Amino acid sequence: MAGGKFCRARWLLPLLFVLYIFLSLPEQDPPEQRVDQDFAGSLNFSSSILELDGVPIVEAGSLAAVLPATSTSLLTLRNTLSPFLHTPSCISKVLVVCPESLLSQARVAVRQAVRSAPESDHNPDVSLYPWNGNPVPGVFHAATQASTKWLLLLDESGLGSLSERTREMLLCPVTVNLPTGPRGVVGSPGNWSCAHPSPETLPASYLLPPFVIPSSLVQEIYEDWPGFGQAVSQSRMDRLGGVVRGLGDPDSNWCNIPPYRAFIQPDITTLSAPFPADPFLTSGGLFVFLLPNIDDLRVVLQLVCRLQESGHSLKVLLYSESRTVLGIPETYNSRCHFQYDAMRETGRDIYPMVYDWLDRTEHEPDVIFTLDEPATRPVQSERAVVIRIPRDDLPYVQWMGSLSLTEWMDWHVPQLEISIITQDRPQSLERLLSSLTRARYFGDSVTLRMNMEQSSDFETVRIVGTYQWTHGSVFTHRRVVHGGLLPAVVESWYPHSNHSYGLLLEDDVEVSPLFYAWIKMSILRYRYGEASSETARLFGISLYQQKNTELHPEGRKAFDPRKLFAQNHIMDHSTPYLSQIPCSWGAVYFPEHWREFHAYLADRLSEKTMEIDRIVVPNVRSNNWTKSWKKYFIEMVYLRGYVMLYPNYEGFVSLSTNHLEVGSHVKERSKEKEEMFRLPLMELSSSVQLLDLPGARLPEWDALPVLNLTGFLINLDKS
Ligand SMILES: *[C@@H]1O[C@H](CO)[C@@H](O)[C@H](O)[C@H]1NC(C)=O
Ligand SMILES: *[C@@H]1O[C@H](CO)[C@@H](O)[C@H](O)[C@H]1NC(C)=O
Ligand SMILES: *[C@@H]1O[C@H](CO)[C@@H](O)[C@H](O)[C@H]1NC(C)=O
Ligand SMILES: *[C@@H]1O[C@H](CO)[C@@H](O)[C@H](O)[C@H]1NC(C)=O
Ligand SMILES: *[C@@H]1O[C@H](CO)[C@@H](O)[C@H](O)[C@H]1NC(C)=O
Repeated sequence: MAGGKFCRARWLLPLLFVLYIFLSLPEQDPPEQRVDQDFAGSLNFSSSILELDGVPIVEAGSLAAVLPATSTSLLTLRNTLSPFLHTPSCISKVLVVCPESLLSQARVAVRQAVRSAPESDHNPDVSLYPWNGNPVPGVFHAATQASTKWLLLLDESGLGSLSERTREMLLCPVTVNLPTGPRGVVGSPGNWSCAHPSPETLPASYLLPPFVIPSSLVQEIYEDWPGFGQAVSQSRMDRLGGVVRGLGDPDSNWCNIPPYRAFIQPDITTLSAPFPADPFLTSGGLFVFLLPNIDDLRVVLQLVCRLQESGHSLKVLLYSESRTVLGIPETYNSRCHFQYDAMRETGRDIYPMVYDWLDRTEHEPDVIFTLDEPATRPVQSERAVVIRIPRDDLPYVQWMGSLSLTEWMDWHVPQLEISIITQDRPQSLERLLSSLTRARYFGDSVTLRMNMEQSSDFETVRIVGTYQWTHGSVFTHRRVVHGGLLPAVVESWYPHSNHSYGLLLEDDVEVSPLFYAWIKMSILRYRYGEASSETARLFGISLYQQKNTELHPEGRKAFDPRKLFAQNHIMDHSTPYLSQIPCSWGAVYFPEHWREFHAYLADRLSEKTMEIDRIVVPNVRSNNWTKSWKKYFIEMVYLRGYVMLYPNYEGFVSLSTNHLEVGSHVKERSKEKEEMFRLPLMELSSSVQLLDLPGARLPEWDALPVLNLTGFLINLDKS
């Protein structure tokens, strides 16, 4: 019995469809009355083809398009309208559904679109339909007012990203009594999937816009597209919610585009939406990325994703793309997806367009990250921190992803001054200067000071006089009375303000191209971050990674912080640490501590409070150093309990190194000694990277291990 029925059904199918299409013609009776009740429930449409080629198209002028506009899509409304105005079609009316607050802007866009359309008798009327709230019910509201026999229902993107032929099909559709369009969803609740648009029609449970319907199908106001599909399907014996048809669409993968995916896999989308929050994060900010094109965006993707993972919001605008498209999805890995807007920038000045776009963000941005190029110079903000990165530095910005919002907000506050102390080692000076030239400054302005001793040779003076520094002001100084290293260093820099930081470099030092990133990251974290009120004892940041401790009374000792931490059960051996030893081979000194040192030194050298050879720190070798500024700095550090931050990268990879050249301190230079002090520099392409830190960020202040002057772990009351 059952077998016979199926057999009959299979034989009947093609006939049934032809019949059904025929009966679907609008003037005909609704098809369900003619369909055999018995077959309707058992019909299997998944292998069926609806033949639409012979079906007549709708009469000219009998179609109205309903297009919702949102604050974002308004930017491109003019483009979105153009297929309706530039191509001859069956459309007599375009209704733009638009929130009341945007009406005046929409009116301007509509006027521009109409004005740019070619003169023709058949141009459709474009009118605005005010609607506040969710656009889908707005579209149905407007549809009930259209009074044409046929409707083309759209979403904000209009006919964007459809093939020419699919557009034509929608602009002059065939007369089918069902929603017809390229984007259909098949399956059952909980297991939806996308139909791949093809010229062969496919039955669907419901359609997503754009699709065409006879006006008679709109019986009420529907809240969403699946709801409409369901209503259509429930009114029919065959339970069809729509017919999928697309002619050569480029985006057969449309289903993965987030706005559509949200319709199809609502559960998955809501689950993956909140990214795991960074445990250190206190509050999320809005980060705006303004970049020329997708290639630039890909270069900073890791940073963008890190910010997103940390719970920040993102808005991305590519302002020099080849076409204008909004809400393009970008996926970096399973945890990082976001959308960007692309625009085609025609004028020289991107400012009006960007300003318009920024105006439409719901919240004021906290940080605007952009490329340093003439086009973006006018981009300014009263509230947001605007950061302009030179193109060459763009590949090296990942470390910024470790900053908290508070730290980002103070991006422009600290000012670094580099102070070079040189005398008569021109080759060394040249090596130092070329390492400074190679380094990345991320668009920051950095002052350079070159201090020459009275006895500087001709070559040194020449090098100083010809060096080109492109990152800020340059100052050159030369002594008239030979001072020696102590005044040469101590007087080479004095802080101008509480935000001025001095990097002291003797000429036998060489820096890593990433030294500035290390300094900036550390200063922002410990001086401007959440813990900045507890870090008063931090007097500076070393670029140099210690491999020896020099202050043992019995002499120099090899030192490996990673081994020390392992022996002392410190969880993460890669942690940077605090040490009381001031570093003179590339280190930044903080303003208030340096001022204090000046005062201490002046007092100490005047012998007002104690004789000059009085021992302040017991049992350290620096007591035997003469004419050393560090000896006195060590005394101050010891008396006050101050500490300096040191890097601790694998293999002693360092942000500066010392070439141990013959000079004031070094009387002879042996290969052995050189090996002891020279360190590998962190290069731009090193396998060891700046974020090779516990949790890929600088640790909390309280988590930093502390070492005393002779390299022992101590419990310093850090506050
Ligand atoms: C629908 O038809 C296909 C192909 O003829 C068949 O494989 C499938 O099992 C049918 N499904 C149902 C639910 O009858
Ligand atoms: C979901 O639908 C697909 C075909 O559309 C089918 O192969 C799959 O078995 C269904 N899964 C469930 C859980 O129903
Ligand atoms: C700079 O810092 C010092 C010491 O912390 C403080 O006494 C002084 O008031 C600060 N100056 C300014 C201008 O804030
Ligand atoms: C360091 O100085 C102390 C006392 O001033 C002296 O006894 C000692 O021999 C000196 N050590 C060295 C290595 O010069
Ligand atoms: C550092 O700590 C060790 C162990 O507590 C101690 O023996 C040594 O004297 C300390 N060094 C200084 C300079 O205080």
